[in-house]
Amino acid sequence: MKYMGLNEIREAYLEFFESKGHLRLPSFSLIPNNDKSLLLINAGMAPLKPYFTGLQVPPRKRVTTCQKCVRTGDIENIGKTARHATFFEMLGNFSFGDYFKEEVIPWAWEFITQVMELPKDRLYVTIYLDDDEAFKIWTEKAGVDPKRIFRLGKEDNFWEHGAGPCGPCSEIHFDREGGKQVESIEEFVEAQDSDRIIEFWNLVFTQFDKDEQGNYNKLSNPNIDTGMGLERMATIMQGTESIFQVDTMKNILSEVSKVANAKYGENHENDISLRIIADHVRSVTFMISDGILPSNEGRGYVLRRLLRRAARHGKTLGIENTFLCDICEIVIRDSKGAYPELEEKKDYIKKVIRLEEERFAQTIDSGMQILKEYMDEMQAQNKNILDGSKAFKLYDTYGFPIELTEEILEEKGMDVDKENFHAEMELQRKRAREAREESNYMGKDINAVDKIPADIETSFDGYDSLSITSEVELIVKEENFVNEITEGDKAAVVVPKTPFYAEMGGQIGDTGRIIAQNGEAKVVDCKKNISGKVIHFVEVTKGSIAKGEKVTLEVDAARRKNIAKNHTATHMLQAALKSVVGDHVHQSGSYVDQDKLRFDFTHFTAVTADELKKVERIVNEKIMEIYNVNTDVMSLEEAKKSGAMALFDDKYGDKVRVVSVGDFSQELCGGTHVKNSGEIGLFKIVSESGVAAGIRRIEAVTGSAAIKFVEEKENLIKTIENEFKWSEKDIISKINHQFSELKEKEKEIAELKAKLAGGAEDDILNSVSEVNGVKYAAAFVKGVDANSLRELCDKIRNKIGEGVVVLGSDYDSKVQLVAMASKEVVTKGVHCGKIVKEVASICGGNGGGRPDMAQAGGKDVEKIENALKEVKKVLEKLVK
Ligand code: ALA
Repeated sequence: MKYMGLNEIREAYLEFFESKGHLRLPSFSLIPNNDKSLLLINAGMAPLKPYFTGLQVPPRKRVTTCQKCVRTGDIENIGKTARHATFFEMLGNFSFGDYFKEEVIPWAWEFITQVMELPKDRLYVTIYLDDDEAFKIWTEKAGVDPKRIFRLGKEDNFWEHGAGPCGPCSEIHFDREGGKQVESIEEFVEAQDSDRIIEFWNLVFTQFDKDEQGNYNKLSNPNIDTGMGLERMATIMQGTESIFQVDTMKNILSEVSKVANAKYGENHENDISLRIIADHVRSVTFMISDGILPSNEGRGYVLRRLLRRAARHGKTLGIENTFLCDICEIVIRDSKGAYPELEEKKDYIKKVIRLEEERFAQTIDSGMQILKEYMDEMQAQNKNILDGSKAFKLYDTYGFPIELTEEILEEKGMDVDKENFHAEMELQRKRAREAREESNYMGKDINAVDKIPADIETSFDGYDSLSITSEVELIVKEENFVNEITEGDKAAVVVPKTPFYAEMGGQIGDTGRIIAQNGEAKVVDCKKNISGKVIHFVEVTKGSIAKGEKVTLEVDAARRKNIAKNHTATHMLQAALKSVVGDHVHQSGSYVDQDKLRFDFTHFTAVTADELKKVERIVNEKIMEIYNVNTDVMSLEEAKKSGAMALFDDKYGDKVRVVSVGDFSQELCGGTHVKNSGEIGLFKIVSESGVAAGIRRIEAVTGSAAIKFVEEKENLIKTIENEFKWSEKDIISKINHQFSELKEKEKEIAELKAKLAGGAEDDILNSVSEVNGVKYAAAFVKGVDANSLRELCDKIRNKIGEGVVVLGSDYDSKVQLVAMASKEVVTKGVHCGKIVKEVASICGGNGGGRPDMAQAGGKDVEKIENALKEVKKVLEKLVK
């Protein structure tokens, strides 16, 4: 058998179907477009659903693609088996109501026997039970030996997902060993189970449309959908046991082996880790190239899980540092021919991977800490099964794979309640499913505005005119197509030509009016439906509007103008950001309405105040340079050559619209813009913040909104001037002056308080009494701080001569105690430290010190006075 590389097989397939009149389309993004039933594209036909259902007109009735796919349903099996992968490429040829079984079966046979040159005695075909038509074509037209065809049931040979287009299918299988021909269906199934025979191509004959009641209605224009696993085909063409030995996969695996210093094929456990890393790094690289970023929900979570699982297996293999960010280069090198976006975004992909690896390195340590605490707790309680919900918390919050938790527990003879863990997991899955909104796979539950027939054209003619006459083609009211709407009705209106811009590319939809012969409606929003038709959402304000009627559509011009200013400014902002913070800045999202603009972009640290000033200044300079804003329609090639910026995961047609602001900014864009940068007037950045890891957001205003923003700042200054009677130039020095004055005053207050305490001096001296021949004073002084209290204490002790003084205060709601004694009384047994200790303990505090001097604090200020009464008793004990 001849050998073929994975990249060669892909090319051979696409070329073959091009020679059969197919249009070759590049792979669609992994992010589904307008399909809430899917998180990630998982089959070649998935992005083509609107063509199958007739909601959109395909660019040609015959299409061939190699589609990047991600499936994470059986992630637990990855690495353990020879043929499971989370990332794979699916080759497919599709007919949208064009050719059917008669053509596709002989073509498939021709491709595998003549192009791939697979020996006929190693091939088997399965068909659906009663699909005699297929049997006839396989045997008579393709010439397959009837003994090599087996009939299987619905489970295997009928493709359907809920309601929608479905049909029988034929699968083609390869016998990896050859030798004795498989004779019976039982033998066939057995050979499949033992991996001797593997399926590699599924031809689906989409000939029914299954309705909600379960009836199979024959489609008048049946379709063809086929899917061939590219990696699986490569195992056949390269005679390898597993997909991990296929040329491109082997390159990745070798690199991982090198970094881990672990030879493949020597240790079973290590091999699993090596395979997991090799598989996951492919998914991760492709997902990031399509604009997905690690996060805790949806696609971002899938990415995070894959990346962390691979990183953890790196750790298991003893890899200390970040490494996936380097391994991804092999994926990029080997796949960039078919997926040029990988090379274009190489630096970005590497950076995102590295950041997530670093982040995981941090959480893995905090997770370890938490797990250790759990284990200590378990030991203390004599338990050896960890609660499933705790394991789930580790998994969910610290990105701790359950296997890791298990491994660590095992070392201490402990285990985890897996049942409970999986129950928690299932709960989370359920929450995720609910959040995804239920929809069947062909989108049967779409609403009426999405069912507008594909052949109705709605063209946007509003770049230059804001008022256009057209006629009402369709009206949808409360999910029904109606002929007329009257005052008070809310409805969706479709016309063939409109000046209204439908929300797209982050730009909000236009609003305005529709004026009819006998009525008028307010257009409150304008959006595109699932197949790209412009829909006006209206409220009838007077009279009525009827289907077929001529109407004038009028866009709210002032609002449109403000939107245009913000949109053009968004382009200029991006160009300025690139020049100030770096070329890695890519738009990751934007929102433009009449009041403001919001621009999200890739950048890994906060934009500094200095950089923001620079960016703002550049944009304002370019505004003042009154650049003409031009739009040119050109080929995507030309646009790229001119350096125009394009969006991450956008699909562009052959012709693209490039919006240029002089030579300052060139960007692919379908939005509405000002004619000259000068119209923007003024640009002011309002805020800068982080929205996700590696994504920053800038909000800004333009034109009158920017003037208003500046005016508000001015008003603030004016208010300060008026309220305080300061002139603007003095504000800062005045505030500084006020602050130092405040400090002075505080000092003065403290001094006055000390003086006040001094007034207490006489009272205290008058209260002096004796215990066993020792003079003492014990008194409470209100509101005196520790310093002043000490000074006062010292003064009184000097005045008494031989003796001991104990003072307490309640400064700042805290107990302060000071005691001082003369030398003479100390020799008689007085000990200040012991005295304050005793007193403080009553006031909820502690302290102590030397025999001649001691201080203490406490919290129960209301107890000081009584506590001081104890001084006498303590002295009685100390002085005998
Ligand atoms: N859609 C079919 C599959 O994924 C071809 O197997």
